[in-house]
Amino acid sequence: MSQRNKKALVSIIMGSQSDYSTMKYTEDTLNYLKIRFDTKIVSAHRTPKRLFEFAKKAEKNKISIIIAGAGGSAHLPGMVAAITTIPVIGVPIESKKLKGLDSLLSIVQMPKGIPVGTVAIGKDGAINAALYAASILSIENKNIRNRLNLLRSKQTKSVKKKPN
Ligand code: RP5
Repeated sequence: MSQRNKKALVSIIMGSQSDYSTMKYTEDTLNYLKIRFDTKIVSAHRTPKRLFEFAKKAEKNKISIIIAGAGGSAHLPGMVAAITTIPVIGVPIESKKLKGLDSLLSIVQMPKGIPVGTVAIGKDGAINAALYAASILSIENKNIRNRLNLLRSKQTKSVKKKPN
């Protein structure tokens, strides 16, 4: 059952509609783990007011973790992290010209003072962002911890001992 738009624990944001084909994997993983989330398009350079209002209200809206996907000169995660102390996980979107290396470096190279947790470029990063959020939420939420452990043990069992 979709966990989207229920009283969200995690907010997923992305710089453009075009990022959704990647960020969908974050949604799928959160759905699998039954973690409530909401999803919005928030662009640092095209909708700066929306960005500011979103980040300002996140705490009041009881959001525990923000997952922000952005591509190119990807300043969205860092800008949001500058406005709120809620943990921000940045997902570098695979860009057309530099295959996401631009996005990765923009997100990971935050100067001291404002941290952004950064995951791998593209689909793997989008999935891991959700799993990382689940790990953080697991500190206080036993149900999420159990579901995360189950996912891990299924993953372990799926690895064959021999390649053929
Ligand atoms: C960034 O610019 C977005 O995060 C997106 O990855 C990239 C390209 O956006 P579009 O031109 O596809 O809208 O802000």
